[in-house]
Amino acid sequence: MATALVTGASAGLGKEYAVQLAGRGHDLVLVARDRGRLDLLAEELSERYGSRVEVLVADLSDRAATGRVADRLADPERPVDLLVNNAGFGSRRGFVRGDLAEEEAALEVMVRAVMVLSHAAAGAMRARGRGAILNVSSVASYAVMGHYSAIKAYVTVFTEALATELAPHGVTATAVCPGFVHTEFHQRAEMNMSRLPDALWLDAGDVVRSSLDDVARGRVVSVPSWTYKAVVGVLRAAPRGLTRTVAGSLAARRRSPHRPG
Ligand SMILES: NC(=O)c1ccc[n+]([C@@H]2O[C@H](COP(=O)([O-])OP(=O)(O)OC[C@H]3O[C@@H](n4cnc5c(N)ncnc54)[C@H](OP(=O)(O)O)[C@@H]3O)[C@@H](O)[C@H]2O)c1
Repeated sequence: MATALVTGASAGLGKEYAVQLAGRGHDLVLVARDRGRLDLLAEELSERYGSRVEVLVADLSDRAATGRVADRLADPERPVDLLVNNAGFGSRRGFVRGDLAEEEAALEVMVRAVMVLSHAAAGAMRARGRGAILNVSSVASYAVMGHYSAIKAYVTVFTEALATELAPHGVTATAVCPGFVHTEFHQRAEMNMSRLPDALWLDAGDVVRSSLDDVARGRVVSVPSWTYKAVVGVLRAAPRGLTRTVAGSLAARRRSPHRPG
């Protein structure tokens, strides 16, 4: 049975990747910091789908812990066929007012860990002549939404470069660029999303299903939903100055504190 390693598998999109991959017949390696949630999920997936599930507790802002996950990906005795680099988090504060340590952690988790784990997985997959890497980026990678956009722009472009380099070796790389998805992401970052229209929210199940289908098709960039395909089309065509102006006003609204009622 093929094995998938999913980072950030304790909640949100990562948990949904684990559930759907188990449903598609994969064994799993689940990575995140919260051992309790990972153990519960492992038990549930083993019972429901008969999957073999390993739990690998790791804080991906810690380089030694990231190294242990990379070692697991590179282990020739226990091949991993699909790597899902999904772990991540957002920040409500702007870059300058925000905490530098949090921004550095964001780089570690969403840039450095993605790069290190992709390197480990790609090397092992290239040697076997098969495998797939799915990096969770964002529609924000085409916009100008703070440090987060810069981070996700890295993920999208890095994945495109990886896909190009790996194509002759039977290995694919896909960047999935979702819009707003109902997960714990905004709550954890204490963002006020109350004014976001319902039409702009995506369901985690739909995002995961369409991105896994795109991985199977060997697509390099996967944008779930027609709404966000249109948004990405507009962002790519729009003058960059206009994109900055619109993104600036949206960021100001998101940073406004929660008010009852
Ligand atoms: N939700 C959205 O609107 C949206 C849109 C576009 C892209 N994304 C991207 O989707 C990915 C998943 O986010 P989500 O929406 O599913 O958020 P979520 O529900 O908050 O889940 C985030 C996951 O990342 C893990 N994580 C966070 N920091 C970590 C660390 N230092 N080390 C290891 N694991 C860590 C968390 O697990 P532990 O706390 O157990 O470590 C959790 O499993 C992120 O890369 C995010 O940027 C989200």
